[in-house]
Amino acid sequence: MEKSEFVLRAKSPPAVGLFAEATSLSALAAQEAVCTRCPLYKNATQVVPGEGPPRARVLLIGEQPGDVEDVSGRPFVGPSGKLLDIALERAGVARDKCFVTNAVKHFKFELRGKRRLHKKPDAGEIDACRWWLDRERALLRPGLVVALGATAIRGALGRSEAVSRLRGDIIDLGDGVQFLATVHPSSLLRLKDESDKREAWRGFLADLRKIARWIEKDARALD
Ligand code: URA
Repeated sequence: MEKSEFVLRAKSPPAVGLFAEATSLSALAAQEAVCTRCPLYKNATQVVPGEGPPRARVLLIGEQPGDVEDVSGRPFVGPSGKLLDIALERAGVARDKCFVTNAVKHFKFELRGKRRLHKKPDAGEIDACRWWLDRERALLRPGLVVALGATAIRGALGRSEAVSRLRGDIIDLGDGVQFLATVHPSSLLRLKDESDKREAWRGFLADLRKIARWIEKDARALD
């Protein structure tokens, strides 16, 4: 096949509805790679699928890939990801035992000169990408779904809810699945005031420690 033909095919995938149902997370990621369910695929470098063990009990959902993730193809490896890694470690949660994904799988940005500035995905984009999030969740069958921020809450629950209303409480979603919402790590990075930062950090760690306790309880129950 000519290279140009391949590029053309990759940019013009068949409608997603024509795909057979993926039976593994890696097959799902291959389908996500040619997604055209919303226009975000047009400007992003690549899709950023979720990653982690296929039997992870905890699903961590972020907002969307950032600039670094868009280039590397991996979730939470840029500045927010580094902060998340530190917070998870402090809270006693092993990131590599969690499945980490995003509510929206392509980077949405606006160009300012040469800089690509993050733009929040809108409700239509989050809802279009729920197709993938729902399938990740169905294949993974996690016991605890954790939403980091408002976009993740909408992706996980299918409706908008304020982070402040839900955060910190473990809620039953039925079918043996529980749900925890907390802030997105980027909200901590945006704070300027030192005492606000300290308070937000403490609150974030307190929420993440609930994941660690949930994991301990879950492991005992599965024993
Ligand atoms: N922010 C997110 O929500 N997800 C990423 O993968 C990176 C930054």
